[in-house]
Amino acid sequence: MPKKSIRPFLPFGDQQTAPWYGKAILSVKQFNRNDLEYIIGVAHEMRVMVERVGTFDLLKGKILANLFYEPSTRTSSSFMAAMQRLGGAVIPISEVRYSSVAKGESLPDTVRTLGCYADVIVIRHPEIGSAALAAKHAGKPVINAGDGAGEHPTQALLDMFTIREELGRLDNLTVTMLGDLKYGRTVHSLSRLLTQFDGIKLNYVSPDILRMPKDVMDEVAAKGVAQAQSPTLDGVLPKTDVLYVTRVQQERFEDPAVYSKVKSAYIITPEVMAPAKEKMIVMHPLPRVAEISMAFDPDPRAAYFRQMEYGLYVRMALLAMVLGKA
Ligand code: NCD
Repeated sequence: MPKKSIRPFLPFGDQQTAPWYGKAILSVKQFNRNDLEYIIGVAHEMRVMVERVGTFDLLKGKILANLFYEPSTRTSSSFMAAMQRLGGAVIPISEVRYSSVAKGESLPDTVRTLGCYADVIVIRHPEIGSAALAAKHAGKPVINAGDGAGEHPTQALLDMFTIREELGRLDNLTVTMLGDLKYGRTVHSLSRLLTQFDGIKLNYVSPDILRMPKDVMDEVAAKGVAQAQSPTLDGVLPKTDVLYVTRVQQERFEDPAVYSKVKSAYIITPEVMAPAKEKMIVMHPLPRVAEISMAFDPDPRAAYFRQMEYGLYVRMALLAMVLGKA
């Protein structure tokens, strides 16, 4: 990739006047288009630095508490890698059953505790609104890494960065979201985030019982973005620039029989992808279960593994921002 000049990061002390210094990141609704362009710029610089030097000391002396009440591979390890690539340290709590949570400690008390030891807290929790609750009590910036079926703002930001890196633009795109749009928090955040760009058309393809929630659709409509719902990809796929596939969120179903009925509603295979454009991408927040066949992985349009790497740069950018170093 071409060598870029690197904007110097703030060398001494925390930049307390930096716009994101000390702020919690709870929802994509906090960001306007300028903020998004700024995050893309900082993530770009992080990418250049990682490619040039691997690890550097921007956040030396800072500590991240990584508090996960729900399973995670990518989000949790990419936040840890992000902190360590910036020279900081991590308190990893991914097995809350071995922490005082197992003794019945409340979320406010747990985050108040971690706020005494760490400079920033990343939290994933099964309840909607939990990250906002944590932010009230932590005394340190809290980053929402998924609150139940609510939001997953850092995933949406890395999805945005992926689209920009892969397709070179964020305006005038047809984005088709496929799968579990009811419980999938990543699509709730991404559809809201994409309203910041011009000429976006959103298609929602899902089983009837897993449709995009009305409150999300109303918010998106209020921003003037075109949305269409459909039970199949037929007719939609040939016009799609970004196909965003999601896993049916088994853990959010009360009745396993209902999950079994819808779990294999869509499977992306090379044959299914035949009518798609040549220049488009297929994304997935991962983990995938069966909704994208491994036979599609070698296709250059399969962007889901590259998407994971973009997540590292975006999370480095967000940590630097809330800690006053970008
Ligand atoms: C997603 C999540 O946890 O919401 N995973 C992730 O963070 N990359 C998607 C999922 O679990 O299906």
